[in-house]
Amino acid sequence: MQKITIAVDGYSSCGKSTTAKKVAARLGYSYIDTGAMYRAVTLYFHQHLVTLTNEKEVAKALDNIQIEFRRSLNDGRNETFLNGLNVEDEIRKLYIANQVSEVSAIAEVRHAMVAQQRKMGKKKGVVMDGRDIGTVVFPDAELKIFMTADPIIRANRRQIELNERGDLVDIEEIIENIKKRDLIDTTRKESPLRKADDAIDIDTSYMTLDEQVEMVCILADEALSKAIRK
Ligand code: DC
Repeated sequence: MQKITIAVDGYSSCGKSTTAKKVAARLGYSYIDTGAMYRAVTLYFHQHLVTLTNEKEVAKALDNIQIEFRRSLNDGRNETFLNGLNVEDEIRKLYIANQVSEVSAIAEVRHAMVAQQRKMGKKKGVVMDGRDIGTVVFPDAELKIFMTADPIIRANRRQIELNERGDLVDIEEIIENIKKRDLIDTTRKESPLRKADDAIDIDTSYMTLDEQVEMVCILADEALSKAIRK
């Protein structure tokens, strides 16, 4: 059966990963959270005191990093493993969010991650979410989505998510983090966050999760039919 590649890019906390995960489950596709990969690299750099400006240290660290996704036996959710260790909860903490934009702006880090992402998605049948999937990782993806949402709504969503994980963080601190990440993500030299020319905009500010999933699934159906006709 023919399958397509679905790229979901956009700002943080717009509902990209929750939507992408559900769309993948509905279509029987695999789901890859590329933000988790950059977060895992950030955790490794943090733990090993890697100096971000030292190219040799960065290259050596990247050689020692192995990232995989495994399905949890408890609830079936995808979990991130760094060198064989489950780091899913740790990489979601605010101290990682505060450092990840600097780490993901490093060219060597991006090259290593993009190479892995291309390998993971080469058979198609994948929903990949991130910042540069439609522009750099899979510029030929049959369906590209670009998600946006009002920054205050994004901060509220992020706070609920962190609260659910037991991380009680002030809304002001979250807004600061979102602003800082948006700025670094959109202005970095290496593959900045931008909408691909052929991506479809979805503003999720006033949409429910079900509506987002439904919309992407309809677009995926159309993109698949188009790919079959080609
Ligand atoms: O999606 P997220 O918030 O978990 O991503 C964490 C950070 O990783 C985000 O601030 C930018 C970076 N990132 C990136 O540069 N490229 C990607 N494809 C995915 C994430």
